[in-house]
Amino acid sequence: MFKITILYGAIREGRLSIRAARAVDRVLRASGKAEVTFIDIKDYNLPLMENRLKDMKDPIPDVVKVGEMIAGADGIVFVTPEYNNSYSGAMKNTVDYYTKEWSKKPIGIVCASDGWQAGTNASNLLQLLILAINAFPMPTKLLVPELDKTFDEEGNPQDEKIARRLDRFVREFLWFVEAISTQKQKEQ
Ligand SMILES: Cc1cc2nc3c(=O)[nH]c(=O)nc-3n(C[C@H](O)[C@H](O)[C@H](O)COP(=O)(O)O)c2cc1C
Repeated sequence: MFKITILYGAIREGRLSIRAARAVDRVLRASGKAEVTFIDIKDYNLPLMENRLKDMKDPIPDVVKVGEMIAGADGIVFVTPEYNNSYSGAMKNTVDYYTKEWSKKPIGIVCASDGWQAGTNASNLLQLLILAINAFPMPTKLLVPELDKTFDEEGNPQDEKIARRLDRFVREFLWFVEAISTQKQKEQ
């Protein structure tokens, strides 16, 4: 079993992208290969970042908690809506708190929008962000268009095309995580 952490980055009331996050969560659990921890940024006290966790004199408990869930993962999935051609500010704010916690983590990217743009711009920028934190962005991404039509509220795909893409993404992600975990084990 791989320890997988999903970091979900929308905190807006009425957020639709939670559907994509739930979909990935469900398929990962159904694979039988993943123990999933879901970080919903909305549930944690992560104020606008002033200092990284490593530089905090009096660390904020939720910043410590989220850091542990990141550091303990074999693989991470970032799920974010596209806001103004980028990922959410809440996602970036969370990422910036941490340093070594991200080191050499395989990270899958899921971006979504309510139109046909499907989070493409956000996903490209997220790849750059992941490189900056010394982690590995998986080349295959899951881009979700028309959020209100592709998944229902529980994250069930509403057409075969999105269901196939979701399954392929999760399969590739678990392969990617296994490849990197195997190499890390060899080095221990
Ligand atoms: C501040 C803001 C900026 C947005 N910018 C984009 C954008 O650049 N591209 C896009 O396709 N959709 C954009 N949208 C529409 C979102 O894709 C849509 O609101 C979607 O439901 C966002 O996910 P959420 O419901 O989880 O917040 C934007 C929405 C908001 C609130």
